[in-house]
Amino acid sequence: MEKISGFSKLNKEEKIDWLAKNLSKEDQADVLNISKFWHKDPETQKLFDEFSENTISNYYIPFGVAPNFSINNKIYTVPMVIEESSVVAASAKSAKFWLSRGGFKTKVISTTKKGQVHFLWKGDKQKLVDYFSIIKSQLLLVVKDIVANMEKRGGGIKDLCLVDKTDVLENYYQLDVAFETCNAMGANFINTVLEAMGQELKKCVTENTAFDPAHREIEIVMCILSNYTPECLVQAYVECPISELGEFAGGMSARDFAFRFERAVKIAKIDVNRAVTHNKGIYNGIDAVIMATGNDFRAIEACGHAYAARDGRYRGLSSCTIKDDIFRFELTVPLALGTVGGLTSLHPMSKISLKLLGHPDAKSLMEIVACVGLAQNFGALRSLVTTGIQQGHMKMHLLNILNQFDATESEIKAAKEYFKTTTVSHQAVRLFIERTRNLQ
Ligand code: MEV
Repeated sequence: MEKISGFSKLNKEEKIDWLAKNLSKEDQADVLNISKFWHKDPETQKLFDEFSENTISNYYIPFGVAPNFSINNKIYTVPMVIEESSVVAASAKSAKFWLSRGGFKTKVISTTKKGQVHFLWKGDKQKLVDYFSIIKSQLLLVVKDIVANMEKRGGGIKDLCLVDKTDVLENYYQLDVAFETCNAMGANFINTVLEAMGQELKKCVTENTAFDPAHREIEIVMCILSNYTPECLVQAYVECPISELGEFAGGMSARDFAFRFERAVKIAKIDVNRAVTHNKGIYNGIDAVIMATGNDFRAIEACGHAYAARDGRYRGLSSCTIKDDIFRFELTVPLALGTVGGLTSLHPMSKISLKLLGHPDAKSLMEIVACVGLAQNFGALRSLVTTGIQQGHMKMHLLNILNQFDATESEIKAAKEYFKTTTVSHQAVRLFIERTRNLQ
């Protein structure tokens, strides 16, 4: 590609032409044809274009649903947006399994979010501590108008403290602010409050004649929410007597299954190789619902992985216990979600997702998402400790492989029949296609 300045000023067609001009003849056609993925309704397309910048088309990811989720005795069909085959099927299968065994139980533990004003100050620590206690009410007063609406909804600022970080970086302190943002994810609200507080702090310190002039200098490094939300936490679990687990593939007994499963969860707690994959499976479910509801999956994942390493070692997020013959599988996970504001109320598909879920508030959405994460983890572990993952996964993946070989409708039909009794692999599908085509 060539360098360009002013790319963002080009209109969509001009951007596409410029890109095409920079490509080889074979690749040009597809890029010029990228408009075939534009939405047929120009108003809807305009909406999508405006979510981001330099947009030239849309990138499609399937929107599926997993029915039969019993969550706190209420049945949900959960929307899931994910490109990986077998994830939605695994969630749906786990949901159905637990439907007849008491369903998923869940509760929100806490909903506090935080943000920090990071700043440097060179003076005497105790003087700053004393001064902070004098100006604390002033810092809260300056954001009174910004928080007024949130307070009307039952939220606002829960706490404000000064944190001494000079042990990790010279002269480094934070204003640490705790928030309740109700049904909003609250990023913009939190950042606006923090920036106003940062400015006021600078003003107060600069104008404080009680400090000697050298100590009136303060550097506000940045004001930003933290996506680490270990106090915005939800727990989900399933449990039943071992005998009710039933029999598993290959005639594996309920008891064998329960103990193999428990061991697999334990391994994820102690081995980082397994822990990362274990948690990836949990986020297969979590991210899919986060995407479907227009929430920020990068924030949720970043937080979840940091939480998984909160004791200094990265561990699996779920836990399994077997006590008095009761099998219990649990997930406690931080989820800072919103059901109002942001993309949730702008993206037409997020709006549909929230309708499918019965217009949940943020707490209910936290509960639903945690249950799907747990269901997904249950599904993956169930396969791993019984048949192995490939059997089910490759069955679901068959269509993707067939599409790679541009299989026709009749080839697909024949392949589905053939692979009912034969293990799916890339090689096996290739041979099947070659054989079928040679016979014609
Ligand atoms: C694949 O996307 C996810 C799994 O690897 C998760 C796991 O191993 O637990 C199946």
